[in-house]
Amino acid sequence: MSLHDYVFLTEDASHDAAIQLINDEAFGPGRFVRSSERVREQGPHDRRLSFVAADRGETIASVRMTPIYAGSHAGHLLGPLAVRPSHKNLGIGRELVRIALAAAEKAGSQMVLLVGDPPYYAPLGFKPTRPGALTMPGPFDSRRLLAACFGDVEATALEGEIHHRDRKL
Ligand SMILES: CC(C)(COP(=O)(O)OP(=O)(O)OC[C@H]1O[C@@H](n2cnc3c(N)ncnc32)[C@H](O)[C@@H]1OP(=O)(O)O)[C@@H](O)C(=O)NCCC(=O)NCCS
Repeated sequence: MSLHDYVFLTEDASHDAAIQLINDEAFGPGRFVRSSERVREQGPHDRRLSFVAADRGETIASVRMTPIYAGSHAGHLLGPLAVRPSHKNLGIGRELVRIALAAAEKAGSQMVLLVGDPPYYAPLGFKPTRPGALTMPGPFDSRRLLAACFGDVEATALEGEIHHRDRKL
């Protein structure tokens, strides 16, 4: 099968149950203690920039995007990204990231941040941020905090607190 055999769709509410199962399967209950989840709990993700992949009508992969500020920069937090084990290593994860990045740039996002494995995300345009420059509600490995920036924004120039754009102060 090639990538062309899968359909990439903008997320809507009809995908919610399948996405929950995909994320439970990929990350288990431990995902709710991660710092990026703390940010996601501060407000909703943006469905217009979140996407699923479907195989013959079955949702088999998902990426979500949450509107954030990183200091004074307005952007998005990418994740969770997960692909069902039956469909791994077919390029679906990378394609979902590419689609989400293009949609975020088109929507005027200044950068997309994530906590993830640099070898996977570097070829997709993600660069290391400056260790210690950005904070989240909880501990995280700053070597895994990566940014894909648009316009004249630089990953190493990002600094300040990462929080949901809707967070009540
Ligand atoms: C990580 C994940 C999203 C990748 O999706 P996928 O559709 O299987 O990946 P793709 O087909 O786009 O890319 C496959 C390539 O990435 C590599 N890769 C997969 N996970 C990787 C990782 N964590 N670090 C580095 N490389 C990785 C594969 O070895 C493969 O390399 P190759 O092209 O040289 O053979 C998927 O494996 C998954 O859902 N994992 C569990 C959840 C998770 O870890 N999500 C990411 C959180 S940061």
